[in-house]
Amino acid sequence: MGQKVRAAVFPVAGRGTRFLPATKASPKEMLPVVDKPLIQYAVEEAIEAGATKLVFVTGSSKRAIEDHFDTDAELEQALIASGKDDLLASIRNIVPAGVSCIYIRQGEPLGLGHAVLCAQPAVGDEPFFVHLADDLIAGHPGCLSQMADEYGRHGGSVIAVETVPRASTSSYGIVAVDRSDHDRITQIVEKPSPEEAPSNSAVVGRYLLTADIFDKLEQIGKGAGGEIQLTDGIADLLGDASVYAYSFEGERYDCGSKLGYLKAMVAYGLEHPGTGPEFRKHLKKVLSDPSTSLTGSFIALKEGDEYPED
Ligand code: G1P
Repeated sequence: MGQKVRAAVFPVAGRGTRFLPATKASPKEMLPVVDKPLIQYAVEEAIEAGATKLVFVTGSSKRAIEDHFDTDAELEQALIASGKDDLLASIRNIVPAGVSCIYIRQGEPLGLGHAVLCAQPAVGDEPFFVHLADDLIAGHPGCLSQMADEYGRHGGSVIAVETVPRASTSSYGIVAVDRSDHDRITQIVEKPSPEEAPSNSAVVGRYLLTADIFDKLEQIGKGAGGEIQLTDGIADLLGDASVYAYSFEGERYDCGSKLGYLKAMVAYGLEHPGTGPEFRKHLKKVLSDPSTSLTGSFIALKEGDEYPED
């Protein structure tokens, strides 16, 4: 029913102030989880879902992203000369043949809705993905593939959601849905307080949007935080088109926060064939042995201890 989704938009203009000083001269999307930067996980997820046009909406100090997805002939030659075939394979074909990268500057930091609107000339009037690289989602198939399947079933926009603690609603777009109509969204609000939130079903950083969102984004003014909010554009769309909430299968890591990033590093480090077994042993030792503390203030976890939730 739904058209094939060929374009994926990556809003990457934000400065990543929560990770300063690490992000002073390097984009937050280039923070690695084990051996790949966040933006590469994002691109791989989009390509797996069928995207062939990758649209990066960038800002100042983001050149490293362009370089990452470009060919580095000098490095390739050096790896060939030293016979490092595995490493050579890891830097070649990050962007496979037939997939193109387009970079558009978001001149002013006017918000996520504005960033998506900046991508319009590259996207045209086709449906497209929006992927926020901060939200790393481990899923098989990936979250965007799951959403493309969902879109194929009904042809309406799809927004990934996850249940969050009520106290956290003010960090997310929050939706209310009609459960009797495939979780069609009836209301969406940007970062409401727990008292005002229509539910605790939160938008995470994956959207599959039909092109009619662009007209809405052109019309809306500034919303929460003085920014042009994607959430407000979607709220306007609800009157004209069906937009569905989709509870994806997989584990999300909020790599926009230090704790979420560390959790991702642990989860992916334990899974990685090159680090997993040794890392598991090391973590066990660290968690049980106070002598591994850097400051001496370490409290060892004992069998049966519980981790506090976020
Ligand atoms: C953005 C969106 C918000 C969404 C969130 C998901 O907020 O505005 O609706 O829930 O991404 O990560 P940000 O985290 O950029 O403040």
